Amino acid sequence: MLINQDQNNMPKVLVTTGGGDCPGLNAVIRAIVKRAEQTKKWEVYGSMEAFNGVLRSPKEILPLDDEKVAGIHAKGGTILQTTNKGGPFNWPVKKDDGSWTAEDRSDEMIEYLKREGFEVVINIGGDGSQQISYDLHKKGLNVIGVPKTIDNDLASTDYTFGFQTAVDIATDAVDKLVTTAASHHRLMILEVMGRGAGWIALHSAIGGGAEVCLIPEIPYNLDKVLNRLNSRYNAGKGFAIIVIAEGAKPKEGSIMSRESTEVGYRNVRLGGVAYQLSDQLKKAGFENDIREMVLGHLQRGGTPVAYDRVLATQFGVKAMEMAINGEYGRMVSFLDHEITSVSLEQATKGQNLVDPNGFLVQAAKGVGISFGD
Ligand code: F6P
Repeated sequence: MLINQDQNNMPKVLVTTGGGDCPGLNAVIRAIVKRAEQTKKWEVYGSMEAFNGVLRSPKEILPLDDEKVAGIHAKGGTILQTTNKGGPFNWPVKKDDGSWTAEDRSDEMIEYLKREGFEVVINIGGDGSQQISYDLHKKGLNVIGVPKTIDNDLASTDYTFGFQTAVDIATDAVDKLVTTAASHHRLMILEVMGRGAGWIALHSAIGGGAEVCLIPEIPYNLDKVLNRLNSRYNAGKGFAIIVIAEGAKPKEGSIMSRESTEVGYRNVRLGGVAYQLSDQLKKAGFENDIREMVLGHLQRGGTPVAYDRVLATQFGVKAMEMAINGEYGRMVSFLDHEITSVSLEQATKGQNLVDPNGFLVQAAKGVGISFGD
């Protein structure tokens, strides 16, 4: 639907959801709309599939009100849909020879948004999306970022919504794998998401009681993993669980990834390390049965847990209050148990990774989990 072209004096906010979807996105959108309606002043609009709704012709921008967001806090996905392709700085254009190139349409987009009276954009997304927020802000657009990712790898916020839901799903998977592993005396290898961060693996390994946890921040030594497994089997416990993060790598090796063939997709695709590890263990002489399970997008689907709904609601209200107060060029953040904000410049520097010397790793080791280090 096209936005109302009539210019009234109500300030308008545009909401976008970008990157991979994540449980809790709808709770953020609902909170923004509800807080905006309280002002009886601000109007909220949503662009479909991140900024692509603004860039497409015809535009895909819809007004959001109380009715549209009723009850959506409990639903997974995003009513605005999302994408990690396209966007204002890398709009894919097909050339005459059939190949694809990318066009920078940011100036045109900013000009359009200003002309239509959008005071500010609230961009909900992960590291790639917040880089876009920062780049647009530097070009003069008022932007507020809201951090989102199941990976929990964003700098300048202790937690992102969606992470806890993913951890609960992965922990439930460990619980379920334990009963089948025990029945068959098998080693089960569970691969979880997280890109370069081991947060989901570490939390679900502790929560589920795995024997081995392999994460990108601690490259593993295969012999040490093998020793841990053998000592468990020799002790008469004829099964074991390994949780491995998709970005984990052996000490002498690199992260397993492949280029995407999808037009406009700019990330490398991870996935499959569970099978790689299984082969390595068999080659190294592990004689018991092994089964591998790649949990994949199940970790991102379905209903957000209550914790994520609460965090997402706080993020949405905070973002709208920042819009009301004109605090632009900043990202909402959860730091030291406070909902606060940081500059987009700060937010886009570095990553939040597991500290190999931190207490969470120490606690895992304290209950006998091996990292293969
Ligand atoms: O960043 C979130 C995430 O789910 C990662 O954990 C995973 O590697 C990636 O996105 C998968 O992306 P896609 O949905 O594009 O395959």
